Amino acid sequence: MRVVEFFCGIGGCAAACPDTWQVVAAIDVNRQAIEVYRHNFSHGTIVSGVEHLTTDLVRSFRGDLWWFSPPCQPFTVRGNRQDLSDPRAAVFTAMLRQVQACLPEYVALENVGGFQGSQAQSLWVGSLRSWGYSVHERLLCPTELSVPARRPRWYVMASRRRIVAPELGDAPPHRPLIDFLDSGDFQREWEVPMEIQQRYAKALDVVDPLQPKAMMRCFTSAYGKSPVRSGSYVATPFGVRYVMPEEILRLMGFPMRYQLPNGLTRRQAWALVGNSLSVTAVRQVLTWLTRV
Ligand SMILES: C[S@@+](CC[C@H](N)C(=O)[O-])C[C@H]1O[C@@H](n2cnc3c(N)ncnc32)[C@H](O)[C@@H]1O
Repeated sequence: MRVVEFFCGIGGCAAACPDTWQVVAAIDVNRQAIEVYRHNFSHGTIVSGVEHLTTDLVRSFRGDLWWFSPPCQPFTVRGNRQDLSDPRAAVFTAMLRQVQACLPEYVALENVGGFQGSQAQSLWVGSLRSWGYSVHERLLCPTELSVPARRPRWYVMASRRRIVAPELGDAPPHRPLIDFLDSGDFQREWEVPMEIQQRYAKALDVVDPLQPKAMMRCFTSAYGKSPVRSGSYVATPFGVRYVMPEEILRLMGFPMRYQLPNGLTRRQAWALVGNSLSVTAVRQVLTWLTRV
């Protein structure tokens, strides 16, 4: 399977692909995300807006699976849910133009839950169906796959051949949160400043990892910047601390060998990691292809 990763960020899709698959190109406009990507993967990367790629270049990748993780702001409350009227949604037209020109075997898209019911979803799915694709789509959260952290996302998989809708059995019990966290003494830099703890006392989601059902909220790129609705915090015997970027990567399902390069500030690391994918969920979505 030759995979093209559009809006690749730090490589959530590449991390989910089986070793026998080959990622042949990865594209993102964010140079820093691409640097993290290159630190972990050796295949070709391009720093560019997806809308600036020529069809000749895209065709030259000879990708079987095209994976798209476009920006989610047009479909979030924080981003004002302007849907196709949001200038950031203009990439959808560019993406569809490339798909129509090349008709790859499989086309996958990941976005936030708010994508469901949007004009962009109608345009995306309607266009793919009109070009002969079979489409399967659903909301999937890693909590359905034993992960003790929420990240519900809408996944759309389109195939030139019919996709047989997979069934997820009953969700197995969650793995203990503590398994994903670092142990030991934490340096003070990871403590949440007392001023923030007091000011947002009722709004911070502080989780005791020793509780058997402990579960974290979805981490966003605003973690460490916006104290509320951007992720959870850990209760320790000494106070409250932030969740480190490496711990979030673990919760997302990135392999142990995955590393953030030195030189990133923790705010930059949180922003990149918070933008990424649940590798665990993407692995599940990729199994849909074996049911084609
Ligand atoms: C939701 S994130 C996807 C992250 C990625 N899947 C990962 O695993 O890190 C969206 C990504 O799209 C990139 N992006 C936004 N607009 C873009 C554009 N017009 N062309 C290319 N990349 C873009 C952002 O830099 C960001 O990395």
